[in-house]
Amino acid sequence: MKEQDLSNYRKVYEKRELLTEDTPENPLELFRSWFLEVDQHFLEDETNAMTVSTIGLDGFPKSRVVLLKRYTYEGFIFYTNYESEKGKAILANPNVCLSFFWPKAERQIIIKGKAEKIPENMSDGYFESRPRGSQLGAIVSQQSEVVESRDVLDLNLKALEESFIGKEIPRPAYWGGFMVRPVELEFWQGRPNRLHDRIRYKLEENYDWTKERLSP
Ligand SMILES: Cc1cc2nc3c(=O)[nH]c(=O)nc-3n(C[C@H](O)[C@H](O)[C@H](O)COP(=O)(O)O)c2cc1C
Repeated sequence: MKEQDLSNYRKVYEKRELLTEDTPENPLELFRSWFLEVDQHFLEDETNAMTVSTIGLDGFPKSRVVLLKRYTYEGFIFYTNYESEKGKAILANPNVCLSFFWPKAERQIIIKGKAEKIPENMSDGYFESRPRGSQLGAIVSQQSEVVESRDVLDLNLKALEESFIGKEIPRPAYWGGFMVRPVELEFWQGRPNRLHDRIRYKLEENYDWTKERLSP
């Protein structure tokens, strides 16, 4: 393949600014106001898509996109297979990083935190609210395991569909939510001349948040 030179890819960031005096004491409030603005004003596709990075059992970090399904002052919840590569990684080392990149708003948020399984009844509640196809998919897919072929997945789904006709589909024990309790959040707003705004919040031992401006 011929070498691809991307050095001319350049964008001027100029849509917004992030002034320290405009930032609230609690970073979850800033998360909420950015999220709502990105979703409703900038009309980003899949505003709730976030990258979750884990430290794997092989010692390598790995990142992949999942969907944020709920957030509160306590943390950020996503759903997955607890026996997937990420599930096993989190159970061995709960320190994770979440990140959002919202290009239409020229914004990035990076969150370090500790992931933990949410209570089973909460996972049940969310599983019940999913379309039947997604429920069956969660049962059919042994996420992150090697699968012989696409056909195997399709045939297993069909067989499962038939066996559950007229029946409620129970949540498999290996599928559920993780909550990431944040310890650090960094808000990045693109600015002209590469002098971007970066405000970092850290959770102190007394559970207060401190904030600092970082050099871009
Ligand atoms: C937009 C998008 C949304 C996704 N949402 C989820 C999700 O909510 N949960 C999930 O387990 N995987 C989701 N995935 C798939 C993951 O990126 C990943 O392929 C899968 O979880 C297996 O990752 P692992 O083998 O590292 O555990 C999504 C992928 C994309 C591109």
